[in-house]
Amino acid sequence: MKTMMKILLIFIFISAEAIANEVNIFSARHYDSDVQLYEKFTAKTGIKVNVVSGKSGALEKRIIEEGSESKADLYITADAGRLGAFEAKGMLQSGLISNTIKSAVPKNFRTSKWVGIAKRARIVYFAPERVSGAELAGLTYESLADPKWKGRLVIRASNNIYNQSLVASLVKNNGKAAAAQWSKGVVSNMARDPKGNDRAQILAVAAGEADIAVANTYYLALMLSGKKGAEQQAAAKKVKPFFPNQDGRGTHMNISGAGLVKGAPNKENAIKLVEFLLSEEAQNHIVNNTFEYPMIAGVSPHPLVVNMGLDFKQDLKTKVVNYGKRQAEALEVMTGAGWK
Ligand SMILES: [Fe+2]
Repeated sequence: MKTMMKILLIFIFISAEAIANEVNIFSARHYDSDVQLYEKFTAKTGIKVNVVSGKSGALEKRIIEEGSESKADLYITADAGRLGAFEAKGMLQSGLISNTIKSAVPKNFRTSKWVGIAKRARIVYFAPERVSGAELAGLTYESLADPKWKGRLVIRASNNIYNQSLVASLVKNNGKAAAAQWSKGVVSNMARDPKGNDRAQILAVAAGEADIAVANTYYLALMLSGKKGAEQQAAAKKVKPFFPNQDGRGTHMNISGAGLVKGAPNKENAIKLVEFLLSEEAQNHIVNNTFEYPMIAGVSPHPLVVNMGLDFKQDLKTKVVNYGKRQAEALEVMTGAGWK
């Protein structure tokens, strides 16, 4: 009888495992709005979404340490450089890109293992009262190394992934030697040692500590929205966005994205969730909460982002997969130039 009970219990346990309809997300995106999206997905599909959130480094460490025991299906984070570096460690697997995903996302924003779910541009912000239109005309990332910006530029530290990806794109487009030279120029143009996040760079320009800053697009909209307080909202109004490299390859683009984790126990559900994140409904939700650009065509960004200008040329030539591939070289040229 005891044995019978045991067998029955084991049977019940196995059945429960087999019918568990869920997907496990390890997410470095700390948006409450993402959680609302997952709830919508569950309501539509019946698939339960379990979220482990944390900083990207901690999440990656946990997935690596848990190895084959890891329950992670999807790793969601900002920056193609991060996804690429995780892929290079052998932690992601192919098979994410269904036909639906393939037709939704241009190929420069995906690999077989990870895909963009929203876009951002890394641009220049300037103080209109100290920087003239003539001075800005034709500005490129390359020309940020021009001595005319000496003591006038703020940009965050070299350990920041957004900068590493930007410099990786310069390594890819211009070569490592040119990127090394460029880094030296940028360091000598800095108004101060790098400190703070992207918003801190915008604030420095607003406060007159510098004339131009490099930061991602969604931060200005976030500040203008008032979600970061009246002071930052007022500061944001004092600076203007400028989209570099318009006469050439276009402005540096990056993504928030999702990667399919090696050994994912719920691969099919993971693909379904990514397909949902790329639906018109989910894209509208994302862009209106995070101020990113939509990944798919036919969705408009938040009005504050539309106001920054939508008709700029995006760099669609430099595949974002290069940000991971060239990350080590990028970091090397930056630190070699004394970029703190
Ligand atoms: Fe960010």
